[in-house]
Amino acid sequence: MERWVDKVAVVTGASSGIGWAVAQDLLKAGMIVIGFARRLQKMEDLKETLDVSIREKFYPRCCDLTVLPSLKSNFHWIEQRFHSLHVLVNNAGMVQMTKVLEESNESTLKQVIDVNLMGTVNCTKQAYRLMQATMAKGEACHIVTVSSLLGHTVPLHIPECGLNLYPVTKHALHTLHEVLRRELFPHKLMRLSSISPGLTRTDFGGAPSDDEKKKWEELIEPDEILLPEDVARGVNFILSSPPHVTIADLLMVPARERY
Ligand SMILES: NC(=O)c1ccc[n+]([C@@H]2O[C@H](COP(=O)([O-])OP(=O)(O)OC[C@H]3O[C@@H](n4cnc5c(N)ncnc54)[C@H](OP(=O)(O)O)[C@@H]3O)[C@@H](O)[C@H]2O)c1
Repeated sequence: MERWVDKVAVVTGASSGIGWAVAQDLLKAGMIVIGFARRLQKMEDLKETLDVSIREKFYPRCCDLTVLPSLKSNFHWIEQRFHSLHVLVNNAGMVQMTKVLEESNESTLKQVIDVNLMGTVNCTKQAYRLMQATMAKGEACHIVTVSSLLGHTVPLHIPECGLNLYPVTKHALHTLHEVLRRELFPHKLMRLSSISPGLTRTDFGGAPSDDEKKKWEELIEPDEILLPEDVARGVNFILSSPPHVTIADLLMVPARERY
């Protein structure tokens, strides 16, 4: 990771789970990290838990990925403050339990697309604008998108889980990367990667109560679930690969995952 020391990274969805684990890992590797999420105070509180040696390199920013002016003003702030952007980790995502065929859930279904797909598209577009200037200075850039095992396959139990358009958006992210790979091909200094985790222990889908957490811990064995730190290690592996190597997609599942 030496080549990324003092370089600038944006991590979306840095207020919890995988995004916060990735942000911490990049900070420990010596990067400047700008965290995007709607819960600014949560990120400010997390910042206080960081070691003083890296705390001042974390910049939490209130940003709703579904609101274009919010995205644009945040990237404008980065441009003014740092003049460069080297790494984007498209991590923010959401799911809400419903079924595609249920009545009156159209706004929920639209939100899944707006956050998971269009949020990633718009964030990548804004990042690319800054990355072009960064690459013009001869500096390398890397875009990493957090997809999912459900971007590869829809297991048989999904209809009961009610994950509706979530697997659709995660499949779309893979196709998006293939389109972007072609558009970005002329840029020798650009790398593009996805990471596709299986079930990971986070607050995804809504923070569980303490009782629910206990029940989950009893039901799910440690080798049936990843930790956010595992995914952060995957992102670190992607970014620390030599410049002539692109990890196009890293599928990472718990040891006992059935798929
Ligand atoms: N947990 C799993 O089993 C699992 C498995 C495979 C892939 N993933 C993927 O991993 C990524 C991170 O999820 P997680 O498991 O770490 O869940 P999480 O703890 O719920 O994190 C989701 C993050 O996304 C942010 N976010 C949601 N909507 C947003 C919006 N409109 N604008 C800006 N930020 C928004 C949230 O921040 P705010 O609420 O503060 O805005 C939060 O920081 C997601 O893309 C998810 O699909 C998760």
